[in-house]
Amino acid sequence: MSTPPISQYNDKLAVWCQHESDFTQLNSLANSLAVPLYQSIDKHTPEVFFLTYRDDCLKLLDKELLKKGGLTVDIQPRAGEQRSYPAPKQGNLAKALGRKTKTIVDATTGWGQDALFMFRMGYQVQCIERSEIMAALLGDAFQRLNQVDWMQSLNLQAPKLSQGNAIELLANLEASPDCIYLDPMFPPKRKKSALAKKSMQILQELLGQDEDKEQLFEAAFKATAKRVVVKTPDYAKPLGGKPDESFKGKLLRYDVYFKK
Ligand SMILES: C[S@@+](CC[C@H](N)C(=O)[O-])C[C@H]1O[C@@H](n2cnc3c(N)ncnc32)[C@H](O)[C@@H]1O
Repeated sequence: MSTPPISQYNDKLAVWCQHESDFTQLNSLANSLAVPLYQSIDKHTPEVFFLTYRDDCLKLLDKELLKKGGLTVDIQPRAGEQRSYPAPKQGNLAKALGRKTKTIVDATTGWGQDALFMFRMGYQVQCIERSEIMAALLGDAFQRLNQVDWMQSLNLQAPKLSQGNAIELLANLEASPDCIYLDPMFPPKRKKSALAKKSMQILQELLGQDEDKEQLFEAAFKATAKRVVVKTPDYAKPLGGKPDESFKGKLLRYDVYFKK
């Protein structure tokens, strides 16, 4: 075990190396996150979250997932999604993005599911994620995506990923995108929402709430060329005041703000 340096994830997160062949990569990940690297863990290990390689993917585990499983950025199309590239631009998200939109910055990439869906629909997507943990999981996923047959035969590259606070990074984009997409974390309606997916529960436990959502909206509105789309739970009030358009689904809506 390496000496644990001072870290913002103190006693929360560690890197777990299960196979000697992963050591170099995981050691450098542990150093960059400033968290301990363990070669074995048990019930006395103080941390509750672990990053490790399993099934050739970088995975995030909590103590419940230690024995099997683990959460990873899924690069497979969603159930029911057409498996050709580009997939048809259908549904509320595509409506909110707008017919003329070509370039999108996803400023809150998280588990990458919306970013990858937009990418598969043929938009040019650039990703920002502030959590170094999520950025590591996304980096691993985008590398895996670049190896997939259809990506290679179509000569496509996974979205560009920048790690950092979008409030700052959006002010320094090379070119203003047609759309900036936001999906920050809103507090759950009930304390322990039975509906929240495990991946989102872990994100909330590990990273806490995104308390600076309003500033993020302002930064996005300044930086976009044409529109900001905010994914919002149905119970939350609109992030940027009354939206110009809103596309409502069962549990969430996409609020759209045009730059006039
Ligand atoms: C609800 S998750 C996004 C889920 C994502 N849309 C998906 O499909 O998986 C919110 C993510 O936004 C990130 N985030 C929130 N505020 C941010 C900011 N100012 N800059 C960069 N990332 C931010 C959080 O770290 C978190 O990973």
